[in-house]
Amino acid sequence: MPDLREMKRRGDKIAALTAYDYLFARLVDGAGVDVVLVGDSLGQVILGLDTTLPVTLDDMIHHARAVRRGVERALLVVDLPFLTYQVSREDAVRNAGRVLQETYAHAVKLEGGSERTAETIRAMVEAGIPVMGHLGFTPQSVNVIGVKVQGRDDGNRRRLIDEARRVEDAGAFAIVLELMPGELAEEITAALEVPTIGIGAGAGCDGQVLVLHDMLGLNTDFRPKFLRRFAEVGQAVSEGVGAYVRAVKGGEYPGAEHTFE
Ligand code: KIV
Repeated sequence: MPDLREMKRRGDKIAALTAYDYLFARLVDGAGVDVVLVGDSLGQVILGLDTTLPVTLDDMIHHARAVRRGVERALLVVDLPFLTYQVSREDAVRNAGRVLQETYAHAVKLEGGSERTAETIRAMVEAGIPVMGHLGFTPQSVNVIGVKVQGRDDGNRRRLIDEARRVEDAGAFAIVLELMPGELAEEITAALEVPTIGIGAGAGCDGQVLVLHDMLGLNTDFRPKFLRRFAEVGQAVSEGVGAYVRAVKGGEYPGAEHTFE
């Protein structure tokens, strides 16, 4: 956590990515990311759900334990899913503590910046649980706010700046800024001492995070404006599987070289 703050001070950008299983975690960690996030986006990209809302704490712990085995170097952060920190502060601390105890992750992430959420963050940090905040478009509130760029009007812009300060004051060590105008994210970043990590929030943040399956082109239907595909793994998988099917059906596989004597 202190390394991230130092990176911000030095102006070194933070590269973060999600991972949900052992093998991808090992590749992501080995390729040099600073932060691996077990996001509740696993609802969509792993479980095929429409939103993150049905994801449970047990789902998160199950995937985070697998990811933990693949991460040797990066900071490992795990999302607290819907209703695991909103109902009561006691519940929140107990659930966040469970994540750290059962997965050996380093920190948890939670969404929102109200007074109540700030109190929850404070209670977790006091209990020794590092917290990453998440502001702007907060997917667990999709049924209230819809899927849209946040902070475009003056009122919401002011609110997001206040929330960022509140989350920092409560003790969060970093804040994800999702789907907001680049110049607002830049203003928030300049106002905070803790690093901001953007997704759809422009280049002015201290770092960037993307959903692994989106940036690798595995999630082939998903093409939002902010996303750059750094590889076309979905296409490679389709081609590879197609070639396998043709080889099996055509009797070319397995060959003599794959057969035990
Ligand atoms: O769940 C997730 O993957 C996230 C990132 C998009 C920041 O929260």
